[in-house]
Amino acid sequence: MKIFAETDTLLLREIVESDAKDLFELDSNPEVHRYLGNKPIKTLAEIEEIISYIRKQYQDNGIGRWAVVDKNTGEFAGWSGLKYETKLRKDFHYYDLGYRLKPKFWGKGIATKTAFLSLNYGFSEMKLSHLYACAHVENIGSNKVLKKVGFQFSEIFEYKKMPLNWYEFDSKNFIANSTSC
Ligand SMILES: CC(C)(COP(=O)(O)OP(=O)(O)OC[C@H]1O[C@@H](n2cnc3c(N)ncnc32)[C@H](O)[C@@H]1OP(=O)(O)O)[C@@H](O)C(=O)NCCC(=O)NCCS
Repeated sequence: MKIFAETDTLLLREIVESDAKDLFELDSNPEVHRYLGNKPIKTLAEIEEIISYIRKQYQDNGIGRWAVVDKNTGEFAGWSGLKYETKLRKDFHYYDLGYRLKPKFWGKGIATKTAFLSLNYGFSEMKLSHLYACAHVENIGSNKVLKKVGFQFSEIFEYKKMPLNWYEFDSKNFIANSTSC
């Protein structure tokens, strides 16, 4: 199983078929989907499709979201990482940063840490010039994470009737920020 990054407490690895039960627990939770369009997953079959879709992205794009694992307990905390996004913004394809954690792992700095590891991978390993991200305008936690790791807000846009904040990160600014997280 490929490991992409780690800290003393967290491991970021590829998502595999055996993550289905954990991903179902994550994505069937309405609290988790509060700012994601309020449509939690209903069946394990939907999750199996999502896993296939993510694993296809690894092959096609060389990148996709990663599983976040608590190294102390081996527990699956959620996912975080980069994705080559082709559907969210009309006529603009880009590398997107995202994260989604089980509620018991919220408020421990995990999104911030994994966001930083993902930025580091995108800019240092993949040599990307820019990364982008978005968050529902009312999703205080996610907006805070993005600003904390160095993303710059640029505009509000609408996606599926939701107002989303749009953020950009120029790799030139990454070195300057790299010691802050
Ligand atoms: C958004 C989410 C990833 C945040 O993860 P997290 O690991 O709890 O975030 P962190 O602990 O790194 O928090 C970063 C900062 O945001 C703050 N924060 C996090 N959640 C918050 C909330 N609900 N309300 C207010 N502040 C919040 C933290 O206090 C911290 O602030 P600080 O640096 O001043 O101490 C998590 O709540 C989640 O998975 N939500 C459901 C899925 C989702 O909305 N994903 C994002 C889609 S854009």
